Amino acid sequence: MSDAAIRSNAPIEGYPYDREALRAELRTLAQVPGVAKRDPILTVDRIERRFGGMTAVNVAHLEVPRGAITALIGPNGAGKTTFFNLITGFDQPSNAQKLIGGGDAKWSFNGKDLRRTGASQAARAGMVRTFQLTKALSRMTVLENMLIGANNQPGENIFVGLIPPLWQARERENVERAKELLTRFKLDAKSKDMAGDLSGGQKKLLEMARALMSNPAMIMLDEPMAGVNPALTQSLLDHIQALRDEGTTVLFVEHDMHMVRHISDWVVVMAQGEVIAEGLPEEVMTSQAVVDAYLGAHHDKDLGDDDAINTGFMRAIATEIADEIEEETR
Ligand SMILES: Nc1ncnc2c1ncn2[C@@H]1O[C@H](COP(=O)(O)OP(=O)(O)OP(=O)(O)O)[C@@H](O)[C@H]1O
Ligand SMILES: [Mg+2]
Repeated sequence: MSDAAIRSNAPIEGYPYDREALRAELRTLAQVPGVAKRDPILTVDRIERRFGGMTAVNVAHLEVPRGAITALIGPNGAGKTTFFNLITGFDQPSNAQKLIGGGDAKWSFNGKDLRRTGASQAARAGMVRTFQLTKALSRMTVLENMLIGANNQPGENIFVGLIPPLWQARERENVERAKELLTRFKLDAKSKDMAGDLSGGQKKLLEMARALMSNPAMIMLDEPMAGVNPALTQSLLDHIQALRDEGTTVLFVEHDMHMVRHISDWVVVMAQGEVIAEGLPEEVMTSQAVVDAYLGAHHDKDLGDDDAINTGFMRAIATEIADEIEEETR
């Protein structure tokens, strides 16, 4: 490796805690799909997923910057959730590598090669995700849901499992951590309630809190705002930014463009399975290619209500964001 290449991997000053330093670094990057980051936490190469004749995901190369909030946006059916499923081991690429032969899909997280690992190993490597439709277990209490999120459960390690004082200590630690997180997410008063009795927004918070039980290096949120009552949205935004400020990398899928613009440091745009653009939120979200991708997703079919809202919304939002930027820079 050349000196220059080694230097370019050196950590950013104040990084990853100093948002300004991180943003300044991101501003130096070319805004093209697949652009290399100084210190990517996740690197993906040639990952494909086909369902019958349809290609849901076909990502040639993508690097997710460490310590940043990255938004993954794109029209309905672009492949965002499928992409999450693939890299977290909940689904396998069509071009998956096998022990012998197979395809050439490859991705690594925090320096660990994940091409042949399943969901629990991905989580153990420090990458956890939430689901578009919440998967809170409704017939368990809120606290029990939290304890499932801990990845250091006693018994997992045979030596720890054999020595009661060790696992009892672990269990106490897990309960402590669960309680701390529930307090942080203002769910502490509900810890003995059945998760099924929570509101939609509270279930989203519970899922996020549960994902944090294992202290992940990166949290992946699939539409954290969907179904959340407006009274809770600000607190969700604050939680996500607080995570980044503590050094957790955040990758989230979201259709709420205001949220994307206000909290993300970097935006990746998918359409028809491919990454078609990436860049700074204020630039990429107003780019013609992105507006076209939202429009193009519908050019060959009648618009349903949701699609019409999505398309009209994207156009309106691009104009609105452009105005906002102009105002801020005046
Ligand atoms: N299990 C499956 N079987 C068949 N097709 C699937 C399956 N899962 C996803 N697809 C298809 O793959 C494409 C990508 O879907 P995906 O759910 O990843 O999109 P998305 O970007 O998350 O969309 P949305 O914004 O609506 O959540 C869609 O055309 C979808 O119908
Ligand atoms: Mg989805």
